[in-house]
Amino acid sequence: MKVLIVGSGGREHAIAYSVAKSDKVDKIYCAPGNAGIAELAECTPIGAMEFDKIVAFAKEKEIDLVIVGMDDPLVGGLVDELEAAGIRAFGPRKNAAILEGSKAFSKDLMKKYNIPTAGYENFEDPDEALAYLKTAKFPIVLKADGLALGKGVLICGTYEEAEAGVKTIMVDKQFGTSGNTMVVEEFMTGREVSVLSFVDGNTVKTMTSAQDHKRAGDGDTGLNTGGMGTFSPSPFYTKEVEEFCGKYIYQATVDAMKAEGRPFKGIIFFGLMLTEEGPKVLEYNARFGDPEAQVVLPRMKNDIVEVMEACVDGTLDKIDLQFEDNAAVCVVLASDGYPVKYDKGLPVTGLEEFRKHDGYYCFHAGTKFDGEQIVTNGGRVLGVTAKGRDLKEARANAYAATEWVKFDNKYMRHDIGKAIDEA
Ligand code: AMP
Ligand code: GLY
Repeated sequence: MKVLIVGSGGREHAIAYSVAKSDKVDKIYCAPGNAGIAELAECTPIGAMEFDKIVAFAKEKEIDLVIVGMDDPLVGGLVDELEAAGIRAFGPRKNAAILEGSKAFSKDLMKKYNIPTAGYENFEDPDEALAYLKTAKFPIVLKADGLALGKGVLICGTYEEAEAGVKTIMVDKQFGTSGNTMVVEEFMTGREVSVLSFVDGNTVKTMTSAQDHKRAGDGDTGLNTGGMGTFSPSPFYTKEVEEFCGKYIYQATVDAMKAEGRPFKGIIFFGLMLTEEGPKVLEYNARFGDPEAQVVLPRMKNDIVEVMEACVDGTLDKIDLQFEDNAAVCVVLASDGYPVKYDKGLPVTGLEEFRKHDGYYCFHAGTKFDGEQIVTNGGRVLGVTAKGRDLKEARANAYAATEWVKFDNKYMRHDIGKAIDEA
C-alpha cells in the first residue's frame, strides 16, 4: 500500500512510525511533514489546508489510504473531499468532526443523550453571557466554541475575570469566528485522563490511557500549551473507571453521533475528568492527541493500518486491540519562550543516539532541514519518549534520554509524570 499522512507534528511522526512498521505498507508520503518524518516518509511541501493540492497529489501517487492527523483539515472537510475524489481516507467527515469543531454542539449532544459532563450554557450574545455570569458560581470556565489551538479555554476565578474573558472571546474575537458562540461551563476538579479510541461508525475500541501536562511550567504553572509531556497508562484509570466510561460515555457517544445522522469514523479522543461524582467528559477531539500519540502508539501491538482500514470499512468489531504490558513517558523539548515567543532555526544535535537504543524514540514536532543540518522550526521541537517496565522506569529513561539532545534555548518541564508518585 501507499499511505499519505497529513500533518507536521510529533503526533504525525508517531503515526508515521507505526505505519512504517506495517507489513502492508511499502511507501509513505507526508504533507507537509518535518525533518524526523522525512526519515520514514517522502515529504511534500503541501500544507494541511491545501485540500485541492492534497487530493491531486493523492490521485497522482495512487495513494491507497490518506491518514489525516490534524484537527483543522478534519473540521474543514478534507476527508469529504478525498472521498468525493474516490480516495480512501481515515478520519471523520466534516459533519462528524464537529464533535471537536464545536464545543456548543458537543455539549448539546452530551445533554441530549445523558452523557456525563459539566453543566453549561451556550451564548451567542455577550450581554446575555454577562447577565448569566452575574449570578454564577465561581470559578467558572469560558470556552470559545470553535478551534483555538488549545487556547480557547479560560478559567475565571471572579466575575471581573469572566467579564474580561467574554471580551477576549466574544467582543475582541481573539480566536476569530471560533468565539461567535461561547460555552460557559461549570468548573470541575479531579484528575484528567486522555482516552483515545478507534471508531468505525458503530463500534468503538479504546486504546490504553494517557495523561497530558498542558501548562508550560513545572507544578502546572504558566500558560496553557499544546502539551508538554505525557505518560501512559494512567494509574488513575482503574478498571472501575473504565467500566463506567464504557457503559455511559464511549459507546453512548458513538451511538449518539449515529442517531444524529453524523456517523463517526476515525479517532475519538475522550478528554475525561475523574470527579468525585464519577468520570465526566471535559472535551472531545476528533484525532489522536499530541503528545498522547507519542506514548500510546509505541505501546500498540496491532498493525495500525489494519486497524485504520477496519475503521473505514466498518469491521472494527473483528479487531482485537492489544497493548504492551509496560509504560511509556514522553517529555517535550521546547524552545524557551514557548508558547509565546521563541527563536527558530537553532541547530539540533545528538539525535543519532536514539537509533542505538531500543525502546527510545525522538518524535519530531517543530524541526526542518537547513541543508544537511536539522534545526528547530517551532515552539515544541521534539518529543523524547522512552518505554520502561513500569511508569517510574519509563520516566527515568525518558529524562535520561533528554540529555542526549542538544540545542540552544532547550526547555522542558522537569515534573512530567509526577502524578505517578501519588498513585
Ligand atoms: P480543553 O481545550 O477543553 O481540553 O480545555 C483545556 C483544559 O482546561 C483542560 O485540559 C482542563 O485542564 C481545563 N478545563 C476545561 N474545562 C474545564 C472544566 N469544566 N473544569 C475544569 N477545568 C477545565
Ligand atoms: N494533548 C492534547 C491534545 O492533543 O489536544
